[in-house]
Amino acid sequence: MTNSVYTPKDFKRLRFAGDIVSRALDHIGQFVKPGISTAELDAIVAAFLKANGAESSCLGYRGYPKSCCTSVNDVIVHGIPRGDEILKTGDIINIDLTAEAKGFHADSSRMFYVGAVSDHAARLCETAKDCMNSAISICGPGVPLSEIGRVIESMAAAKGYSVSKDFVGHGIGKVMHDDPQIYHFYDRRLDSVIMVPGMVFTIEPMLCECSSASVIDSDGWTARTKDGRLSAQWEHTIGITEEGCEIFTVTKERGDDGT
Ligand code: MF3
Ligand code: CO
Ligand code: CO
Repeated sequence: MTNSVYTPKDFKRLRFAGDIVSRALDHIGQFVKPGISTAELDAIVAAFLKANGAESSCLGYRGYPKSCCTSVNDVIVHGIPRGDEILKTGDIINIDLTAEAKGFHADSSRMFYVGAVSDHAARLCETAKDCMNSAISICGPGVPLSEIGRVIESMAAAKGYSVSKDFVGHGIGKVMHDDPQIYHFYDRRLDSVIMVPGMVFTIEPMLCECSSASVIDSDGWTARTKDGRLSAQWEHTIGITEEGCEIFTVTKERGDDGT
C-alpha cells in the first residue's frame, strides 16, 4: 500500500487515465441493448482500452477473469461478464471499469438502461447518481471523509433506499485499491481522517431498493442482494485540490497527452 496523495504532475496522468475510462463508458452505451451478452460488452471494453493504449486493471486482479464488471439488476457489484447472460428489455446494468495508463489507474462506473425500464428502477439508478454527485460536491481540503457517507446515507434514506456497507470506495493512483477506505454510510471512524490537497480516491455508492444484505455467487465475485431486489451504483475517481476537488473520470477535450 502506498499513500494516495499525489503531485500536480500525477494529477495530469490521472486526468489522462480518467479520460480514457470515461470515453470507454461513453462508447459502450450504444451497445447496451436487448440481446447482447455481458461477455460481448466486456470484449468491446477490452478492445477499446487496447486501442487507446490503456490496460484493464481488473483483468487478472486476484484472479478476476474479465476486463470490467457488469452488474445486472439484483447484482450489487463485481458481476463477471458471461456469454450466457443475455440482456433483456427492462434490465438495469452497471458497467464498472478501471484502467491503467502511464502508470496510473482510474475507476468509474455508470448505470445503463436496457430499452425502457420501470419507473422504480430508473428512480433507484438516478438516486444512486445523485448520491454520488452530492458527495463529490462537498469534497475539499479540511472536510472529514465521514461527510461523504453522511451525505450519501441521508439522501438514500430520504428516498427509502439502503446503502451497502459490504463494499467501499478506496484510495487509488499508482495502484487500483489503496488506503483510505471510503464508507458510503456515516462512520465516526472517518471523522478524524481529513481531506488534503493531492488525495485521490473513489466515491462509489451502491444503493439497494430494500435490504442491503448481500450474498456472493459460487464464482467468488458476484455480489447480489439477498432479497433479490434491485441495486444500483455510480462511481467516479476524484482528486482533492486547493479549492475543492476535481473529477478525473470525465471525458476531456482532446489535446492533453497527460505528460
Ligand atoms: N472497479 C472495481 C472498484 O470499483 C474493482 C473491481 S476489481 C475486479 O473498486 F477485480 F472485480 F474487477
Ligand atoms: Co470501479
Ligand atoms: Co472503485
